[in-house]
Amino acid sequence: MTRVAVLGAGGGIGQPLSLLLKADPLVSSLNLYDIRGAPGVAADCSHIDTASTVTGFHADNLPKALEGAEIIVIPAGVPRKPGMTRDDLFNTNAGIVRDLAQAISEHAPKAHVLIISNPVNSTVPIVANVFKKAGTYDPKKLYGITTLDVVRASRFLSEVVPGTDPKDITVPVVGGHSGVTIVPLLSQTEVGKGVAGADWEKLVNRIQFGGDEVVKAKDGAGSATLSMAYAAAKFTHALLRATRGEAGIVTPAFVESPLFEKDGVHFFSSNIELGKEGIAKIHPLGTLSAEEEKLVAAAIPELKKNIEKGVKFVGA
Ligand code: NAD
Ligand code: LMR
Repeated sequence: MTRVAVLGAGGGIGQPLSLLLKADPLVSSLNLYDIRGAPGVAADCSHIDTASTVTGFHADNLPKALEGAEIIVIPAGVPRKPGMTRDDLFNTNAGIVRDLAQAISEHAPKAHVLIISNPVNSTVPIVANVFKKAGTYDPKKLYGITTLDVVRASRFLSEVVPGTDPKDITVPVVGGHSGVTIVPLLSQTEVGKGVAGADWEKLVNRIQFGGDEVVKAKDGAGSATLSMAYAAAKFTHALLRATRGEAGIVTPAFVESPLFEKDGVHFFSSNIELGKEGIAKIHPLGTLSAEEEKLVAAAIPELKKNIEKGVKFVGA
């Protein structure tokens, strides 16, 4: 019995994510919550012929939506419009995420919490600090979802190396989830290590700014929703497998991490091994090329700033 809750289920990500989770055989019960529209999404998904049950909750029913949830996925919050950075979303989304985290600490303090809402580099520290204040923080169960960067990296890399299939390529993408903080380690894949010079630069730039491509194409109607729902469902499925006892599941996520503590950066995305109780192991970055070392160095000050902004928002 695994109950998954989606907070923000009525939105551009929330709807297709709810659909994909309804189709996941490892989900047995799905709670859909939003300040608007969740009961309709739930009624729609509930006709799909999989065994799980689906329940929709109105805006004033958040405690009930959280009851018994083991995994909580959060895509609540506003998306970017052309010309905006993810940090421009902070003023609106920080408060939304803080309030949802407060409710989770009261009604589902043992749940795994998966943060999609941007800016992820700041919203994850916000949630961590709300949980710390409430005395419910378990760093092994809080994840910033960076899977879309991993998905993009494998797709974009396969496009520049003829004859390859993205399904056979996994690129570790480390750092954070915005612009220069997104660091693909192409040298760590068989297919990617042959990409060099201007081709490498172009590919890295496309992975770092892939989100902008979608924001521009949607022309004011939001950012990535379908690919993001796919990515979040993929991460959730991996976590469900791990919590059921499957060993050896490794994927990147933005988590509390010792890797760059020496630089004052307390959250970082790198490969993590998932286990029954959440994060079982945080992998080191491994061998980097000289160019990748430079990318990591450029990511650190930006990450530090984003993380400190989130921490400051919650206060001591
Ligand atoms: P959207 O506007 O289509 O949907 C957001 C939903 O959140 C809406 O249905 C809204 O009613 C709901 N909401 C707002 N406040 C809420 C609250 N307090 N409680 C519950 N629900 C609430 O936006 P979207 O396109 O689905 O994007 C959502 C967020 O995900 C944005 O912040 C976006 O930047 C982010 N995002 C992150 C990634 C990533 O890789 N991590 C990828 C894409 C988008
Ligand atoms: C993405 O990477 O697509 C998301 O973070 C949404 C955005 O604002 O680009």
